[in-house]
Amino acid sequence: MQAIVAADLNFAIGCGGQMIYHLPEDLKFFARMTRGKVLVMGRGTLESLPGGKPLKDRVNIVLSRDARCAPPGVVMARSLSQLEAIIAPYPADEVMVIGGQQIYALLIDCCSQAHVTRVRATAPADRFFPNLDQRPGWELAEESPVYESGGIPYTHCLYVNRQSKPLSAITQPR
Ligand SMILES: NC(=O)c1ccc[n+]([C@@H]2O[C@H](COP(=O)([O-])OP(=O)(O)OC[C@H]3O[C@@H](n4cnc5c(N)ncnc54)[C@H](OP(=O)(O)O)[C@@H]3O)[C@@H](O)[C@H]2O)c1
Repeated sequence: MQAIVAADLNFAIGCGGQMIYHLPEDLKFFARMTRGKVLVMGRGTLESLPGGKPLKDRVNIVLSRDARCAPPGVVMARSLSQLEAIIAPYPADEVMVIGGQQIYALLIDCCSQAHVTRVRATAPADRFFPNLDQRPGWELAEESPVYESGGIPYTHCLYVNRQSKPLSAITQPR
């Protein structure tokens, strides 16, 4: 499993149910990285997508405990155990965790890599990504040159997790 996120210098990712920064070039990067893949997201993130609709050309798996939440075009997972069963047939590298705060916090240590668009700015926020610079097991393996999109500077960072856990480690904690 891998994670993909756009986070700022404070690892902020969202505010008021939406993303904070609008980086058209990074949206293209996200589309390229996730097309054809299996996406795992929380209900909050599904609701933040345009029209609250799943992303096309991808398998959209949505975590929600709310039985009323069953939008068309998505595969619902009501628990981490259900998620584990749903993603079992797919190659681990094809499964990408796309947010938001709650789901990153739950699954980050089960990810082997995180593709972090690091926006070189700060802004008011109410949702955050785990700080991988301080998280045991994680290290920054690659960072791109500084790019700019919509006047906002950012880099693409690849973090790798040297202590990646299987999902079963959190669904069946010992
Ligand atoms: N910058 C980025 O790259 C990026 C990416 C994604 C999202 N975001 C931002 O992040 C924010 C959304 O994040 P969020 O933390 O509010 O929401 P979220 O993580 O997307 O979804 C949270 C929901 O997931 C469900 N959930 C959580 N744990 C579960 C479990 N163990 N089993 C089953 N369901 C579970 C619950 O849904 P129910 O309440 O229905 O049970 C919970 O309310 C938005 O502002 C969005 O724009 C930013």
